[in-house]
Amino acid sequence: MYFPFDGWGEPGSNDSGLGRKHVREQIEGTLERLGTDYLDLYYIHRWDEATPVEETLATLHDLVREGKVNYIGASTIAAWQLTKALWKADANGWQAFDVTQPLFHAGYHDDVRDYLDVCADQDLAVRPYSPLAGGFLTGKYERVEGDPYTVEAPDGSRAALSDRFDDFYVSARGWEVLDEIRAVADELDATNAQVALRWLVEHDEFTCVPIVGARTVDQLDENVGAVDLSLSDDQFDRILDARYDEDGTRWGHGE
Ligand SMILES: NC(=O)c1ccc[n+]([C@@H]2O[C@H](COP(=O)([O-])OP(=O)(O)OC[C@H]3O[C@@H](n4cnc5c(N)ncnc54)[C@H](OP(=O)(O)O)[C@@H]3O)[C@@H](O)[C@H]2O)c1
Repeated sequence: MYFPFDGWGEPGSNDSGLGRKHVREQIEGTLERLGTDYLDLYYIHRWDEATPVEETLATLHDLVREGKVNYIGASTIAAWQLTKALWKADANGWQAFDVTQPLFHAGYHDDVRDYLDVCADQDLAVRPYSPLAGGFLTGKYERVEGDPYTVEAPDGSRAALSDRFDDFYVSARGWEVLDEIRAVADELDATNAQVALRWLVEHDEFTCVPIVGARTVDQLDENVGAVDLSLSDDQFDRILDARYDEDGTRWGHGE
């Protein structure tokens, strides 16, 4: 499922979005392609302004009742949209979202504070996407002298292949956060990637399970090592606070 106004082709009104007909067709196609009778977790991806959320939720509720889907999730929507969907589900006795999927990593967290507060209050699991800031937080990229918004990218890396990488993931605050992750990794004899992932898992206000975006088996093996780590409160807080300067000002893009 995808947002109808994203410019990916020009589908008809029933060929995209979160309307009943499209969701139904998509789930049937997915089950057939995967050769299974049910999905453990089914996400909507983004908010569909062209479809009342009641229509989407009623459809998802029916899919759960039919046993085609066990749990439902919401990917990449705003805090108010998540809250509205939870309220509508509650008021109508429909299945509510169990899981969310926001952009959330050690360099990007209080930006999604409202959203995470909803997850904590409503007992929703959080599955951060791009938990390593697309690989930036692994420390594989070098600084460009005098320009904190650009990286020197190794051949074949995501930054070397994507024009959007610098805009999306690289910032002055990002380098500060990465320095602190490096320091904690040294203390724990772990890798930067493991520490960055573990920092997410250790949020105790909600269940937090990052979506690991490893490209190679070696990366996956390394990242799974986050399971065996444990950060002290001090190490957790140092990474949390690294995006602020001594005056409490947040480092960010455009400074
Ligand atoms: N809901 C949404 O809007 C949304 C948006 C984006 C992604 N997602 C989902 O979230 C998943 C994860 O996102 P992501 O791929 O951006 O996650 P990520 O973990 O932030 O970045 C993954 C990239 O980091 C690098 N990497 C990972 N482990 C590494 C290691 N140990 N050493 C060195 N480099 C390492 C690899 O880059 P190289 O290629 O440079 O090696 C890999 O492709 C995606 O697969 C997708 O399913 C969802």
